[in-house]
Amino acid sequence: MRMVDLIEKKRNGLAHTKEEIDFIINGYSTGTIPDYQVSAWAMAIYFQGMTQDERANLTEAMVHSGDTIDLSAIEGIKVDKHSTGGVGDTTTLILAPLVAAIGVPVAKMSGRGLGHTGGTIDKLEAIPGFSVEITNDTFIDLVNRNKAAVIGQTQNLTPADKKLYGLRDVTATVNSIPLIASSIMSKKLAAGADAIVLDVKTGAGAFMKELDDSKELARAMVDIGNNLGRRTSAIISDMSQPLGRMIGNALEVKEAIDTLNGRGPEDLTELCLQLGSHMAVLAEKAATLDEGRKLLEEAIQSGKALEQFKVFIEAQNGDASVVDHPETLPTASNKIDVKATKSGYVASIVADQIGTAAMLLGAGRQTTDSVIDLAVGIELTKKIGDYVEAGEPIAILHANEAGVEEATKKILDSYEITDEKVKEPTLIYDIIQ
Ligand code: URA
Ligand code: CA
Repeated sequence: MRMVDLIEKKRNGLAHTKEEIDFIINGYSTGTIPDYQVSAWAMAIYFQGMTQDERANLTEAMVHSGDTIDLSAIEGIKVDKHSTGGVGDTTTLILAPLVAAIGVPVAKMSGRGLGHTGGTIDKLEAIPGFSVEITNDTFIDLVNRNKAAVIGQTQNLTPADKKLYGLRDVTATVNSIPLIASSIMSKKLAAGADAIVLDVKTGAGAFMKELDDSKELARAMVDIGNNLGRRTSAIISDMSQPLGRMIGNALEVKEAIDTLNGRGPEDLTELCLQLGSHMAVLAEKAATLDEGRKLLEEAIQSGKALEQFKVFIEAQNGDASVVDHPETLPTASNKIDVKATKSGYVASIVADQIGTAAMLLGAGRQTTDSVIDLAVGIELTKKIGDYVEAGEPIAILHANEAGVEEATKKILDSYEITDEKVKEPTLIYDIIQ
């Protein structure tokens, strides 16, 4: 096989065989096919697309380019949840103990944050002592004992995807649905879960800003998962404003504790209940979404979910007393109001700008080696649809030294305030299964 012929084939809109895709991904991984040929191929895919079979084959080839995690030693149907990236998305912290409380095993591999999006590991590390540096054996043992554990990302997970994503980033080929879907799904499949629930974000703060694109991406990922033998479903949820009220590591741990206590923000609670119901159904703990939801609501009301959070924290060397005493979590030295400059209704909040403001305070990384401040972040006191008087706070900065002025400016710029009444945005747009 010659790569030049395969580029021509895709350029002409024809579909690759499995052998051809394996040849390309193997050759690229081992360096026998150079960047410039793969760039041209990615651009041909950008314009010509890929069939369902090609997408599944590409995903599988990338899975096999590196290590895969074998979770077969864990009893039951292991369900993973993946979000396509949002701001202040605290769902993993809540869902892991919540669905574990109803008996769904959660074996979660998570990453650190970069830029305007936070990472689950950073949030968990705001709990004193908490460690995700555990061996695979410990990880499996903890899930068997406690139904939930989180481990840091393995270095050698889907290296072909890492290399291809880096190349796409500098060749204007990131924004291709078959390439995005295969990239995300390859990582999920390599991480070993039997079933996957996807939270595909849509709106100004999301990777996919248009609803139709978000639906198409969700459909593509669900098809790949099901095609490769993993039960997969997706929810399309709103990211036209940050989820919940807190953005920042320790702040989001507090918000997760509130939510597990039944006192969380309405949007965050609702999204967790919906994602959790899908996880319960895929794991065969509930026959219907309604039944799953009831079980989850009971786990919150009975205190079982919160208890599960303590067990989960303790098992990974964290100080579980923060659950009853969240005031002992890292706390910033200053709380500074960001005041509305005019009266009216909040019409929009540019979520990724709020994420950037939190990063400027030190809650997130500008580059992969930035050191973050676990205590700092932003509390949104007004969200879309709320009325605000001029001079009233729309947000509160939890700040130490860094970034107060710039963060204040970013927040003011990202709030649009109008005279007319504004409806709250829809939270869940669609379910794809
Ligand atoms: N996120 C990924 O992991 N891959 C993509 O291609 C795009 C977003
Ligand atoms: Ca939040």
